[in-house]
Amino acid sequence: MKSLLATLSSIFGDAFEANGIDRALGEVVVSQRPELGQFQCNGALPAAKQTKANPRVTAQAVLDSLGQREIFADLSLAGPGFINITLTDEYLRGWINRIADDPRVGSPTVPEPKNVIIDFGGPNVAKAMHVGHLRSTIIGDSLQRLFHLMGERVTSDVHLGDWGTQMGMLITELKRRQPDLIYFDPEFTGPYPAEPPITIDDLEAMYPEASARCKEDAVLMEEARQATVELQRGRPGYFALWRHFANISATALKRDFGSLGVNFDLWLGESDVQPLIPEMVERLKSQGFVEESQGAQVIHLPPEAEGKELQPLILVKSDGGVMYGTTDLATIQQRVQEFHADQILYVVDGRQEYHFRQLFSAARLTGIAGAAELEHVPFGTMNGPDGRPFKTRAGGVMKLQLLIQMAQEQAALRMKEADIAQDYSEEERLEIARLVGIAAIKYADLMNHRTSDSVFDPERFTRFEGRTGAYLLYAAVRIKSILRKAEERGFGPGPILAPGDRERDLLMMLFQLPEALQGAYERRAPNFLCEFVYNLAQSFNRFYQNCRILPEENVELRASWLALARLCLLEMELVLRLLGIEVPERM
Ligand code: ARG
Repeated sequence: MKSLLATLSSIFGDAFEANGIDRALGEVVVSQRPELGQFQCNGALPAAKQTKANPRVTAQAVLDSLGQREIFADLSLAGPGFINITLTDEYLRGWINRIADDPRVGSPTVPEPKNVIIDFGGPNVAKAMHVGHLRSTIIGDSLQRLFHLMGERVTSDVHLGDWGTQMGMLITELKRRQPDLIYFDPEFTGPYPAEPPITIDDLEAMYPEASARCKEDAVLMEEARQATVELQRGRPGYFALWRHFANISATALKRDFGSLGVNFDLWLGESDVQPLIPEMVERLKSQGFVEESQGAQVIHLPPEAEGKELQPLILVKSDGGVMYGTTDLATIQQRVQEFHADQILYVVDGRQEYHFRQLFSAARLTGIAGAAELEHVPFGTMNGPDGRPFKTRAGGVMKLQLLIQMAQEQAALRMKEADIAQDYSEEERLEIARLVGIAAIKYADLMNHRTSDSVFDPERFTRFEGRTGAYLLYAAVRIKSILRKAEERGFGPGPILAPGDRERDLLMMLFQLPEALQGAYERRAPNFLCEFVYNLAQSFNRFYQNCRILPEENVELRASWLALARLCLLEMELVLRLLGIEVPERM
């Protein structure tokens, strides 16, 4: 369904075209100055610049050739050539009813769906997730939901970091702890035990220790490197151990992502493309893309657009080990060949920007990317109230379960202060606090543009006022409760009547959902959705102050208001769902 703004833009586009001007300049936007009109079209200014005409004359010519005049209550020229637009209430009525009757409440779809792979999450086996992985998970999940709604064929991949030096570190650390394990016996040829030799707690304790030791001790570090190379060459005992580490880790990660309500279509990792690498490297060599540099095999990259040099991408190190970039290159090959990707999005920390520039350049140069578009969707850091990357009380790294627990505790405190859900059962109250806590985490993460660094303050973000997930849940639940009470009294929604002064602003917000979705989609920026849903909640509150729905005695008016409330809830729930936020039944 075409949106109201798109429809107006096309009416104005026609009028611009009739005057020999690019129809794109007919774009109509919501007015910044509502007292002058509901919408505005500012295209006459750039148009007049091109044709060296007086912009007011151009704007007047556009107005003179405008079609469908019956829908406008007012059209006026202002300032140097702005066109202010106000629609008739009757026209608004037609529109709002069409949206209310649409199961997608007016949300748009892309004209040509693509196979889009979204690479996000990206946790590393045995290492605890840090706030960068959390952000990637929350932003990536929102994008996968949005792309899906827009009709793209989305495949999400968690792309586990399961093949780096950390695996060698874990192997040597385990060897130090339990040197007699069968996995370290080079004579043994298997089969290896099906049961892992360690638990998830062991695994989580081992990595920080291994990494600290390796940092201090160059000999240990060398041993870990060596173990990594042997693993990568397929030493059976190491490979069997690696499989245990990866399995244990994946189980814990699935639980963590599950508690955030995040799903991945694919649980592939760096290790999955290792079998593709030798052949890929050979082919690239025979095609002349690979050069030797200080014992390593590298791909020299062409300078970027502004003549900026890019460091070569290292494919194989002098010790034969492969790099992060090699693995990512092979993954692109797999995604293009096996999954027929038309587009791959990488929702990864902005600090990896250079890596992706090198990777994309190499993938294009060598033809590995084929026709697929490659795009890095970077984000900044999330700091704690102390201005340093956010951590839970456990210090060092962030444990997701601890973070969720802390948010839930804060939410429970705020609920108590605001006297919310205090007379419910303990169980229900805790569940609401959990949903509020998760909504707080996600909304705080998504509300600023992803590239800006932001501050996460659990105390503030669980408050029920201001721009918070908690406030939005409360607003949505309040509408639910109005609708429920109406139903109990036998009142149902009916056709929406032409708006008057009390309803018009809410309608104006309800019309803007398609642009919020489109904006978020085009810019890969869920903050547009956050902004929209907050403004919508505010508009509803103002509407509700003037229109007490349930006591209203005029039956048609009450039914119309109920329909507006219902539509408002549908739009809010749709957007919150895209943010990965679940709304409780009551609060
Ligand atoms: N595991 C990586 C890290 O922790 C992130 C992976 C991002 N995805 C990718 N295809 N490189 O930094």
